[in-house]
Amino acid sequence: MLLEIVVLAAGQGTRMRSSLSKVLHPIGGRPMLQRVIDAAKTLDPSRIHVVTRPDAVQIRELINEPVSWVNQNEQLGTGHAVAQAMPGIAEGATVLVLFGDVPLVNPETIRRCAEVATQGQLCVVTARFSDPAELGRIVRGIDGNIERIVEFKDANPAERKIDEINSGIIAAPRQLMASFFATMTNHNAQNEYYMTDIVPHASAQGITVVGVRAGSEVEVAGVNNRAQLAEVERAWQQARAGELMLAGVTLADPARFDLRGNLTVGKDVFIDINCVLRGEVDLGDDVSIGPNVTITNSRIGSGVRVEPNTVIDGAVIEANCVIGPFARIRPGSQLAEGVHIGNFVETKKARLGKGTKANHLAYLGDTAVGAGCNIGAGTITCNYDGFAKHHTEIGNGVFVGSNATLVAPVELADDSFVAAGSTVTSKVEVGDLAVGRGKQRNIKGWTPPHRRAARQKE
Ligand code: UD1
Ligand code: MG
Repeated sequence: MLLEIVVLAAGQGTRMRSSLSKVLHPIGGRPMLQRVIDAAKTLDPSRIHVVTRPDAVQIRELINEPVSWVNQNEQLGTGHAVAQAMPGIAEGATVLVLFGDVPLVNPETIRRCAEVATQGQLCVVTARFSDPAELGRIVRGIDGNIERIVEFKDANPAERKIDEINSGIIAAPRQLMASFFATMTNHNAQNEYYMTDIVPHASAQGITVVGVRAGSEVEVAGVNNRAQLAEVERAWQQARAGELMLAGVTLADPARFDLRGNLTVGKDVFIDINCVLRGEVDLGDDVSIGPNVTITNSRIGSGVRVEPNTVIDGAVIEANCVIGPFARIRPGSQLAEGVHIGNFVETKKARLGKGTKANHLAYLGDTAVGAGCNIGAGTITCNYDGFAKHHTEIGNGVFVGSNATLVAPVELADDSFVAAGSTVTSKVEVGDLAVGRGKQRNIKGWTPPHRRAARQKE
């Protein structure tokens, strides 16, 4: 079928009270409009047209898709918006209209809708809502057929009681749309050109109007304000939590689970409460994530334990590592099998070899550490001189005592030692001990000032 999809995204979105365009507000970490385009693409249309205001540069910059951008210079209603796309739509095409602010559209539902229209009919996706609020109502005749759609503002009290609503998703042959646009008017409560008026127009021409029922309220839920944004977000999260649990993940509380991207998981993964997973995250078998952990674009190997309040970003963590509590693993961190990173340890562009431990209070940046090392509490790689970043190279089996400052560029060769409190500025050779600190001297019989003052008074 020759299918063209029109996505409406030119509305003001004033009720969001935001400087960000409404359709760019994210659901599950992805802009709403992007989600709609993703769903549209599953139908393999010959073209996707996105209708925006001419000044919607933000949208065009952020949505990096080969769509055809259509300007709607004035926001005169949904019918007017779709009409702007018509010149770019091929003769004989089926046109499917989606809304940029209805982000969780189900590909299956819109496919069914488009298929009906390829048979020359008009198709409207409807849903029954427990609280239809101000949505357009579906008015059916005594034969059960859809007669018209009435906007809440135009509806009489009896019509307002109808609980079947218009999702806004509609499909029709191009020809039917074109003939409707040639005659549409704006004689209604909002003085807008309503796309929904195509229903009586089709009936008058003897064209059947078919309603396709959406599978759930949420797949056609529109977002007009932040409360609705939060509701749709929660619904999306609940759906993801549900899928993960069925895939064998234990979630301490599915209501306190937040995925803002894509998650792939192994077997017997445990995720505690209040974790936020962003971007592309992969958790291996038996991974256990403690409460209040944030993981962004990272791969976590099997058997890893992430303790509470840890932040991981852009890292590869191999099997059986123990990270946290309160650790910060920054981009470019690569932790080999069995590494232990403890509280208040920060790593950045750091490769740590098998079994290496940094258990307390350390900064390891721009560094490669070998296997089996012990990095003492308070160790700092001084990687920045105020101008450039420098590298610290640490071999295998190195012991760095507490509170060492390693002034990069510097190298600690295999099996070397650094005495606690040292400032290391030059290479430590294999097996050597570096002591880089003032020598302790003790002053015998020292009289502290208060005793001296007391003696003078006597
Ligand atoms: C619309 C429907 C209503 C339906 C509801 C579902 C009409 C007349 N009403 O109402 O029956 O129940 O959606 O959510 O169709 N837009 C433009 N240009 C315009 C006006 C709107 O691009 O001039 C876009 C908006 O960005 C949005 C969509 O069209 O993506 C819907 O517009 P909105 O103003 O939210 O319509 P509703 O009042 O929600
Ligand atoms: Mg709306």
